[in-house]
Amino acid sequence: MNSLYLNAANNQETQRPPIWLMRQAGRYMPEYRAIRSKHSFMSMIHNPTLAAEITLQPIQAFGMDAAILFSDILTTAEALGGHLEFHEGRGPLFKNPIRTAADLSQLNAQTGKKKLSYVYEAAALTKQKLTDFGVPLIGFCGAPFTIAAYLVEGQSSPDLKTLKKLMFTEPEVVHHLLDLITDITIDYANGQLAAGVDAFQIFDTWALHLSWDDFKTFSLPYIQKIIAGLKNPGAAPVTVFARGSSGLAPLLATSGANVLSLDWQSNLPEIKKAYPHLAVQGNLDPHILYGSKAMIEQKVGLLLAAMKPYKGFIFNLGHGIMPDMDPETIRFLVKLVQSHGA
Ligand code: CP3
Repeated sequence: MNSLYLNAANNQETQRPPIWLMRQAGRYMPEYRAIRSKHSFMSMIHNPTLAAEITLQPIQAFGMDAAILFSDILTTAEALGGHLEFHEGRGPLFKNPIRTAADLSQLNAQTGKKKLSYVYEAAALTKQKLTDFGVPLIGFCGAPFTIAAYLVEGQSSPDLKTLKKLMFTEPEVVHHLLDLITDITIDYANGQLAAGVDAFQIFDTWALHLSWDDFKTFSLPYIQKIIAGLKNPGAAPVTVFARGSSGLAPLLATSGANVLSLDWQSNLPEIKKAYPHLAVQGNLDPHILYGSKAMIEQKVGLLLAAMKPYKGFIFNLGHGIMPDMDPETIRFLVKLVQSHGA
């Protein structure tokens, strides 16, 4: 197997940095849109055969150094009892937002755990299909705080006002919700690892709204619990991603994760220097990919040069590929990074 990604995630020397890209399977690919035109997003992630096929699409087309399972972070929220729908152009929608202690009775972690086997089937099938390509498979979940944000707000929110009101009026309700999410997520992570995923990533997309102190109260302990709850510690490297992560990096470094995935505001070499025992992943601003080839070469060159002295670097974007991006740009980027040091 191509071990560049796993070696870098384990903070070992690699001949060149591995590259994979968040949202590498998705709407920017015509192959994805062809399947999507016939199925809803939810039915695609619930179908292991389709999920495996879509996971492989970017590997077949562009040859990234790792695959990420085609799924969504909101699978755990749905299994817990959230009535999840995706509406075109609006993103996720929960029809039964959880906003009071009484609402919590709609959620059940124990029955929820039994509803996620479709993801384990997708992971196992994908692993089988990936043997021909020889790249590792990354499984993932949402961090409890980010999942709580969707369950409480009911949709993507610019400021998490509803959740924050609840955090500062009835913190015990929020902690109860975070406990339920953490419980199902530990099972979920172990289920994916048992199905064969080679690495695991935790997405805390909405942590950027938290102060330092509140991240320590409402997010970090739950991420730590998930990582500490892995049955086979150290067997698969764990990455933690947070948007707006430059300020939170010192706290993320105490999460127990092996890899810090950082956005483009972070000074990646400085963070690597501060936490030499951890690997770092990131952190090209995805909008640069709208630029000319010369611009992309310049910006990618700067990042590669800045990270050259360090082991344990995984090339990625600071956030996901946008749906309107040109697949040829993605091909160019992958080749550019993979020719580095050759
Ligand atoms: O990265 C990958 O290629 C793997 C698959 C993946 C998806 N979502 C597929 C997806 C992963 C790792 C995610 C994670 C995810 N999902 C996050 C964390 C990462 C981040 O982006 O910050 C979040 C917050 C979600 C929740 C979610 N799912 C939203 C907000 C949306 C709508 C976004 C939009 O642009 O419409 C989704 C839908 C979604 N998840 C799509 C894909 C390919 C688009 C679905 C479609 O075809 O309509």
